Amino acid sequence: MILEYKGIDVFYTDQGKGSVVVLLHGFLEDSSMWQNVASELVEKNRVITIDLLGHGKTGCLGYVHKMEDMAAAVYAVLRHLKLKKYVFIGHSMGGYVALAFAKLYPDSIKGLCLLNSTYQEDDKDRKQLRARANKMAQSNYENMVRMSFANLFSVESKLKHIEAYNNALEVALKTPVQGYMAANEGMRLREDSSIFFAEAPFKKIILLGEKDTILNTEEILLFTDKHNIETFVFSEGHMSHIENKKEVNKKLLFFIE
Ligand code: MLT
Repeated sequence: MILEYKGIDVFYTDQGKGSVVVLLHGFLEDSSMWQNVASELVEKNRVITIDLLGHGKTGCLGYVHKMEDMAAAVYAVLRHLKLKKYVFIGHSMGGYVALAFAKLYPDSIKGLCLLNSTYQEDDKDRKQLRARANKMAQSNYENMVRMSFANLFSVESKLKHIEAYNNALEVALKTPVQGYMAANEGMRLREDSSIFFAEAPFKKIILLGEKDTILNTEEILLFTDKHNIETFVFSEGHMSHIENKKEVNKKLLFFIE
């Protein structure tokens, strides 16, 4: 379905009945990444998926999509559907958006699952990497997408899940260059949410991949241990919903219940 928002189309899906779960995809993904998870959750829940700004069938609003801009578009969809309380599951960038949402609209959050995601801001190196990637994207976009994508799966699981890998890469390559650059800049500018997340009153969980090269798993584990935040580490990389599909579904079902 489409919601017109600030002159652009925002694509979303709405299936099932019950308590509301909102699924937010990551960078270079779209709502189709949730097909498998949604089919499990939809038996007992109302499941909403949304294409974030500049991704999938949702248009671009500008040249920088801050996480707050993405969160505001998500809020527009949830308001349009007259939904008031929900659990968020955010994959990677989707987790950053869910955190921005939780800060903007704290009363509406029942729970938040960061899947291969973090409450941390980018460190200096990562900020530089993003700035460089955005420069390269202007001249050699396809290569840039392929490079950004290459590290997401662990080496073993890329071979093991080659079909899912190719499907995900196909979605990534369809992301418009403006969507890539605006999201990358938005992620570069995002603020740290460590204290906010540690102190937030809602139910929370972090699901990580042991071989994820995007996140600093060790640092996250130290922090979540100190702050008593439920955390689980799967065996593979940044794409746990594909690489550790069954275990992820089980954890998510349990978290939602
Ligand atoms: C994602 O998968 O959403 C991104 O890789 C996250 C990031 O670049 O920080």
